[in-house]
Amino acid sequence: MSEALCQAGLKGIAILDVLTEYGAVAAEELYTKYQVPAQFYKVDVRNDAHVAECIESIREEFGQIDVLLCSAGIADSNIPAEKYDPGMFRRLIDINLTGTFLCAQAVAKEMIASGNGGSIIFIASMSGHIVNYPQEQSCYNASKAGVIMLGKSLAAEWAKYKIRVNCISPGYMDTALNRVPQLDAQKVQWKERTPMGRLGDPDELNGLALFLASDASTFVTGSDILADGGYTCW
Ligand SMILES: NC(=O)c1ccc[n+]([C@@H]2O[C@H](COP(=O)([O-])OP(=O)(O)OC[C@H]3O[C@@H](n4cnc5c(N)ncnc54)[C@H](O)[C@@H]3O)[C@@H](O)[C@H]2O)c1
Repeated sequence: MSEALCQAGLKGIAILDVLTEYGAVAAEELYTKYQVPAQFYKVDVRNDAHVAECIESIREEFGQIDVLLCSAGIADSNIPAEKYDPGMFRRLIDINLTGTFLCAQAVAKEMIASGNGGSIIFIASMSGHIVNYPQEQSCYNASKAGVIMLGKSLAAEWAKYKIRVNCISPGYMDTALNRVPQLDAQKVQWKERTPMGRLGDPDELNGLALFLASDASTFVTGSDILADGGYTCW
């Protein structure tokens, strides 16, 4: 998605991640490939003070923030609810839901101060709509339902500041997260339950990110767009 935005003429990009080995490489690749000023910021989205500080530095560095795309998340799949450690449950909500809120709040403050508004995009999930099968992952599903409702609530609150807030809800995607042998058997079932019979390629989200980030979607806010190969039809 970052690449698609750079291809479309983004003037600068900040990549935030708790893992330097992912974020720094991504920023370097974007700069090398597209000559777009790209900066990595190591941040844990659970840390409100650090998130706020980081967003302020980004605004100082780049002048203005027009788009926020929140994608940080963890899954904790295959944990039966009755065995879910409460500490792990809280941690997942803290990253997936609270982290999304903290990033949105910090960026919205800058967008409100600039008077220009902007576009905020949350990566939710089809898991915010349905219960996945066969893996048990109650906390993840609840967190993503929360992200979708958070997006709608913020869209309603911040429309007056010209800030649009929308979600993209992917189905099963062929990312590193899912490319592990332990998931091979479950993947067969995921495909069987998907009308299109396959996992999505992460690149298949690019057009949606571009649409929501740009003036192609100026009257779209509070929406949640499913990209799931039809999974939620069945
Ligand atoms: N892969 C799928 O099938 C799928 C489907 C639907 C939704 N999603 C959602 O898409 C998003 C990206 O998932 P992905 O498959 O690319 O996974 P991924 O693990 O490759 O990416 C998640 C990123 O979040 C970062 N992260 C985790 N905790 C963090 C924290 N506390 N602070 C900052 N960064 C943190 C990780 O370091 C990682 O780079 C997630 O929100 C996920 O829930 C994925």
